[in-house]
Amino acid sequence: MPLLRDYIAEHERATNLGGDAVRALDRGEHDVARELLTAMGTELRSHWQGEEQGLFAVMGKDELYAEHIAPLVREHRELEVLLASADLSDSGVRDEVRKAVFDLHEHIAKEEDGLFPASLTALGGDEWDAAMAAWHEAHPGRQMIGDS
Ligand SMILES: [Fe+2]
Ligand SMILES: [Fe+2]
Repeated sequence: MPLLRDYIAEHERATNLGGDAVRALDRGEHDVARELLTAMGTELRSHWQGEEQGLFAVMGKDELYAEHIAPLVREHRELEVLLASADLSDSGVRDEVRKAVFDLHEHIAKEEDGLFPASLTALGGDEWDAAMAAWHEAHPGRQMIGDS
């Protein structure tokens, strides 16, 4: 499913940036880490918009899935706040960032191993169209993977 492929590619870019940021922190390069975290935030904001207005919105109409989606959205907001405000001169904040990058892998696993596979059987054509329209709105001027 093209949309899921895009979501997964976005996950990969975000976790790569997060991993690079943690390694920069380990080297004491806080400015480099700051730039990487900012890039990660930019990647994730459009990703979250695409998910929340797209796949999550159409799947969330079903109570069963809404229950799983609410905590995922909460985790988006928590990470957004941390990435926007992280004062990397504070060692406590640096630890929070490390934990957040680690936790992001778990968040992504809940999507890629749970919600995404479920969507393949749960959604119909109109719902996929709506989810894909939301992705395009979140990524102005970009094409989905494999689209030409
Ligand atoms: Fe997510
Ligand atoms: Fe995601």
